[in-house]
Amino acid sequence: MAKKIIIGNWKMNPLTERDAIKLAKASDFRNIVLCVPFIFLSAVKKVLKRAKLGAQDASWGDVGAQTGEISAEMLYDIGVRYVIIGHSERRAMGENNIDVNKKIKAALASGLTPILCVGESVRDESHSYFNLVKTQLEECLEGVKKDSIAKIVVAYEPVWAISTTVGRKDATPADSLEMAIFIRKILSDKFGSDASRVRIIYGGSANEKDAEDFLRNGGVDGLLPGRASLDPKKFAEIIKIAEQIS
Ligand code: PGA
Repeated sequence: MAKKIIIGNWKMNPLTERDAIKLAKASDFRNIVLCVPFIFLSAVKKVLKRAKLGAQDASWGDVGAQTGEISAEMLYDIGVRYVIIGHSERRAMGENNIDVNKKIKAALASGLTPILCVGESVRDESHSYFNLVKTQLEECLEGVKKDSIAKIVVAYEPVWAISTTVGRKDATPADSLEMAIFIRKILSDKFGSDASRVRIIYGGSANEKDAEDFLRNGGVDGLLPGRASLDPKKFAEIIKIAEQIS
């Protein structure tokens, strides 16, 4: 069985470089990626021996007139190898599928592994959230070449299950399994047999208590914990579980 991958999304945490280094040292394991704020990337890179380094966004282009942006090329150059693209918190700030598509292509062209986030904000009884996820996948991956698709990680993150969503609910491994199968089908319709090599992971309050259930029964190749990745004990526990299952 392929190794499970655990990707920590630190979001806009912690406050200081000192704390970022401390957290990185305590979270430095194999088969994991730490997606840290831009400002801490270089400092964290210096202390990591096993974990891979990830960013939380990347702009398209290599250099140019995009004030405040950081390109995928720049990230690769300083040792970043993964990048979260299209996280729901960025989509809430106005990022759309067309932006995400440009960023995915730029990330691939630069040698980064994109972690494409998809997921619905609400679940309605008519199941229209399947269509939403289908549209996200189709539009975000438009024009991606067949021979690149296997490099992409797709993270299913139901927004209603994310730890900071007001009135959040727990998603179940069954929810994850159903969507993972659906995502795999959309990808294979679009990309053929290469789609079977895409890693699909689950995120949305994944923690040390439910990690085993999601990894065994959620139809996924890994997890994308946010809040739990800020607690070295909880994060290490999740990694231990993933290693035992792999
Ligand atoms: P959470 O965050 O684990 O805190 O819900 C996951 C994410 O938003 O990537």
